[in-house]
Amino acid sequence: MPTEADLLIHNSSMLLRVPVDGSDDNALGVIRDGAVAVKDRKVLETGTSTDLLKNHPSAQKVDAGGRMVMPGFVDAHTHLVHGGERAAEMEMRLAGKTYLDILKSGGGIYSTVAATRAASLEELTVSAEKRLAMAAAHGTTTVEIKSGYGLDAGTEMKMLECIASLAESSPLDIVSTYLGAHTLPAGRPRTEVVDELTGPALGGFRRHAEFCDVFCEDGAFSFDESRRILTAAKAAGFRLKIHAGQFNPLGAAGMAAELGAVSADHLEELAPGEAGKMAENGTVAVLLPGVPFFLQGSKYADGRQLIDAGVRLALATDYNPGSCPSYSMPFMIALGVFQCGLSTSEAVRAATTGGAAAIGRQNSLGSLTEGKSADIIILNIEKPEEIPYYFGTNPVHTVYKRGKLITAAARHLNYSHHQRK
Ligand code: NIG
Ligand code: FE
Repeated sequence: MPTEADLLIHNSSMLLRVPVDGSDDNALGVIRDGAVAVKDRKVLETGTSTDLLKNHPSAQKVDAGGRMVMPGFVDAHTHLVHGGERAAEMEMRLAGKTYLDILKSGGGIYSTVAATRAASLEELTVSAEKRLAMAAAHGTTTVEIKSGYGLDAGTEMKMLECIASLAESSPLDIVSTYLGAHTLPAGRPRTEVVDELTGPALGGFRRHAEFCDVFCEDGAFSFDESRRILTAAKAAGFRLKIHAGQFNPLGAAGMAAELGAVSADHLEELAPGEAGKMAENGTVAVLLPGVPFFLQGSKYADGRQLIDAGVRLALATDYNPGSCPSYSMPFMIALGVFQCGLSTSEAVRAATTGGAAAIGRQNSLGSLTEGKSADIIILNIEKPEEIPYYFGTNPVHTVYKRGKLITAAARHLNYSHHQRK
């Protein structure tokens, strides 16, 4: 007699299992009229509705009504904790200024730093909780969140405390990243800043964050500074990430890969040989196509080239108030397909199991296979192609995290009221 499930979601148009090692002819692990059985917050079994209804007669049943069922999205790159908002900068960009112009003249990240320093821990937490609810309403069940709007030790720690308290209180899984090296604080010599970022304080931040990230870019940290920071972070016990190649091909993704980085993110500009180094070291490429969309950059990351080089891909929102204020993983899938050269299957994999790999969680979430977290979404569509096809609309109907219904129809939330103080 097989173990009885607590919950059984059945009568789907198709169930996408999205296994880590999906084969070419069934990369999404599709089961037509599929069902998923959940026991103790984990996936117990998948199969056809007919078989699973037979195997689990006393489970609580949820009829998906012929909708598509798949794993929740894993958003592996966000800056979801911050004060303020920057709609005025969007207007400045529309009038001809670039993102880097605005940053170099003391706006951009610096404007969010000022608002984040001024916000209390409670204010940061309340606003971030609302943003998490909106991410969940778009089907996201796991989120990585970075610090980086403090640029001083006290505010960076306040941000990490905020992320830790969200991880405690939110139904979503939250992974914490220390991004003290987001940009250089105004008015301090670079060498002094880099000495501090590579000094003994790293140990204290490590207690609050699993990953360490650096923004390697013209206007932020150089290749050599980024390498110093990541090397010190690795020695302090962090797993590594990097913002690389957003505007200039500085070679940082290849450098981070050689240091064993779990992911390199952005990658619109890749130097020769970098993709090979990422493939060799198993570094996941996190594509953030909402950024060139919102910044009206002409260039998107070339997902096709990365896949052909053997690199594993993730798609993420990069939610942040300056370069991509979007919570929508379905929209990122659409951009992945229309702008990064991905097939629908590749984009859906990148938004689920790929995202899990980018935060080192591919063995515990991101797929509906036995033993993984029962993070399950039901969508108002019948097949995966309809995610990009109906771009710009939210296809998500219902969200389960660890087998618990969490869709708090967040549609009543105002998109901006929580940004202001
Ligand atoms: O990933 N590139 C650096 N950091 C963010 C943007 C942060 C901001 O503009 O506030 C990004 O795009
Ligand atoms: Fe980012």
